[in-house]
Amino acid sequence: MAINEWPNPVTVAEMYGDWDYEAAVEALERSLSPRPAASIFDFVGSVGVGAGDLLLDIGGREGQHGLVMAERFGCRVVSVDPVIENIERGREIVGDHEYGHMVELRQGSIEQIPAEDDAFRLIFSRDMMGHIADVEVALVECGRVLSDDGHMVIHEVFGTEMLEPAEARRLCADSATVPERMSVAAFEAAVATAGFEIASLDVIGSEWTEASQEAGTTPNYLLQVARLRRDRDRLLEELGEAPYRVMYANALWSIYQLIGKLESRVYVLR
Ligand SMILES: C[S@@+](CC[C@H](N)C(=O)[O-])C[C@H]1O[C@@H](n2cnc3c(N)ncnc32)[C@H](O)[C@@H]1O
Repeated sequence: MAINEWPNPVTVAEMYGDWDYEAAVEALERSLSPRPAASIFDFVGSVGVGAGDLLLDIGGREGQHGLVMAERFGCRVVSVDPVIENIERGREIVGDHEYGHMVELRQGSIEQIPAEDDAFRLIFSRDMMGHIADVEVALVECGRVLSDDGHMVIHEVFGTEMLEPAEARRLCADSATVPERMSVAAFEAAVATAGFEIASLDVIGSEWTEASQEAGTTPNYLLQVARLRRDRDRLLEELGEAPYRVMYANALWSIYQLIGKLESRVYVLR
């Protein structure tokens, strides 16, 4: 919905007039069958990844998505992340997992990927480009380690026209996000100058967040924000400043996707 879709205000007569409120509530109870976040792996499957292929999960945190792809596709995965705590926690998770022998965790960054040229059949990048100062440099480095016929599957969250500049500034500052990364145009320009081509684009919008809220697998973010605001001083003391700010930003991140200020997109690049 555009911000100014209806320039004419609703009248009092229209608001309280001849329509069925209960029926409207019921209509909004109907799920639109949103795709879950796990649907990202369908994009990996769509480019023909299979047993014996080597994949890179860049910004792979603790390696969990690597484990999912190893199990689903029979591929091996190198999961790279710069944060040592992610690698250490990941070694325990991967070490205990049935498919752990197919996932290797390496400390490194997208700007300097610890891998040989042409090493990977596919690079998987989920929700991490927002942290990157120069996406063009990062994508050129991805191109170095990607085989000639390889693909990248990139999920990212972007600002829409409904995101106000002050909201964007606060959100970026509290989530270690580079403000320019909110821009679809800047991202697509970097893709082109780095020598990649967009093979497909799927605008996920709010679907993944809707799906996790419907399934009850993510917290009630609206309540979280209400509590973060009303109990600010005590929670700041209990959690510390950075965790308080990150929890607030994470909750807004999901709420903004639900109300259209942010949108998720999945790009397949070649
Ligand atoms: C929001 S998390 C996403 C983790 C995982 N990909 C997922 O979807 O659950 C962002 C990740 O990007 C990593 N990251 C931050 N800067 C990075 C960089 N320069 N290169 C690679 N990864 C980076 C962080 O350490 C973190 O694990």
